[in-house]
Amino acid sequence: MLLTLHRDRKIMNQDALKKSAAEAALKEIPEDAIIGVGTGSTVNHFIDGLAQMRGRIAGAVSSSEASSKRLKALGIEVFDLNNVNDLPVYVDGADEITRHMHMIKGGGGALTREKIVAAVAKRFICIADTSKWVGRLGNFPLPVEVIPMSRSYVARELMKLGGQPALRSGFVTDNGNVILDVHHLDIMNPVELEGIINQIAGVVTCGLFARRAADVLFLADSSGIHRLLAER
Ligand code: A5P
Repeated sequence: MLLTLHRDRKIMNQDALKKSAAEAALKEIPEDAIIGVGTGSTVNHFIDGLAQMRGRIAGAVSSSEASSKRLKALGIEVFDLNNVNDLPVYVDGADEITRHMHMIKGGGGALTREKIVAAVAKRFICIADTSKWVGRLGNFPLPVEVIPMSRSYVARELMKLGGQPALRSGFVTDNGNVILDVHHLDIMNPVELEGIINQIAGVVTCGLFARRAADVLFLADSSGIHRLLAER
């Protein structure tokens, strides 16, 4: 019983940190623009905050069906990326992030659309609680979105790179594909590894966001919010 209470309190604290990172990002959103919106529990706080500032933005391009649903339910117009030329900013969470602003993303399975929207956006604002801040990427298993017929081949190629891929059970992405979560990869050079994995036939994209890293990170810990820029 005591253990359960302790765990619940920890989850609540982490959620409060996610919320405060999301609120900090809201202050940097340009008025009347269409903005890119990511996916996940941290971004959900951001979306809820946007809804409270009704009319401040013109609308959003979303990185997942889940975020689109939440945005629409709160009265925020969701645009097709093909009809939008410029996105001044993209706001999203991460599963891990380093001082170089390299990230692992895709814990929620939305990595491909996240990478597309991030590629279009001028600025990538990452919002995270302190549990996501790491010295080196790779403790979190790297998600790789894969065309279903190539699953076994891609898994063998990932094993040659030193990883241990596991099929995400019962999960299909918004694009109709599957996810391999790759454990124990040695991610010494995230920029290089991102390119290598993305070149494997059948890989749609991997969850390394190093070539298009974040520009700004709002990192929330118990002492407050830290606004960090990339050390390039
Ligand atoms: C979604 O696919 C992910 O890239 C999320 O952005 C990432 O997993 C962070 O999610 P949370 O904010 O829920 O931790």
